[in-house]
Amino acid sequence: MIIKSANLETVCGITSVLPENDKPEIAFAGKSNVGKSSLINALMNRKSLARTSSQPGKTQTINFYNINDELYFVDLPGYGYAKVSVAVKEKWGKMIEKYLKKSTQLKVVFLLVDIRHEPSANDKSMYDWILYNGFQPIIIATKLDKINRSQRDKHIKMIKEGLSVVPGTRIYPFSSLSKQGRDEIWECIEEICDF
Ligand code: GTP
Ligand code: MG
Repeated sequence: MIIKSANLETVCGITSVLPENDKPEIAFAGKSNVGKSSLINALMNRKSLARTSSQPGKTQTINFYNINDELYFVDLPGYGYAKVSVAVKEKWGKMIEKYLKKSTQLKVVFLLVDIRHEPSANDKSMYDWILYNGFQPIIIATKLDKINRSQRDKHIKMIKEGLSVVPGTRIYPFSSLSKQGRDEIWECIEEICDF
């Protein structure tokens, strides 16, 4: 897709009312620091529209990016961030759940995991939870540049097994440094949105 415009249109805090958009929404979930905002920037061809940080817990709102007035990218707050209190984690859990349940435009949830590591219990819960809410997550294995090429297939297998993915689940290796995987993810989004 040719990106003609990309704007952060809506920012939702814990108590905000979620927007009622009329274009397809594509959401990105994953633990803090996994690279959600970096992926969104890479897909939008923007260096820093989505704020990234080496400190986990940067995105603490649900951010809706309007792309070309044709679709929305939804940057969800990362889970598993230790410094956030249990009460706040619970509130965010409820907020994300509300979003998954209420959005009429949500077409797909991409679940991001770090290609280097076995999925955590939180990753597995998130995967199951997305399924439970009626979506089949598509996996993006981030930070591909951090492993050797020869390790790639082994790590993809480890992630599939760790999440116990349903048969036929797609998994895209991706690097926001090299942009490897970017075109394949866009193709997938275009297919899902029927563009
Ligand atoms: P939260 O907003 O805290 O939930 O984090 P996030 O998932 O949005 O992660 P973010 O995109 O801010 O990236 C976290 C850190 O990982 C940053 O320092 C990024 O530069 C780095 N990073 C993200 N993707 C990649 C990648 O593909 N390769 C490498 N080497 N670093 C990456
Ligand atoms: Mg972020």
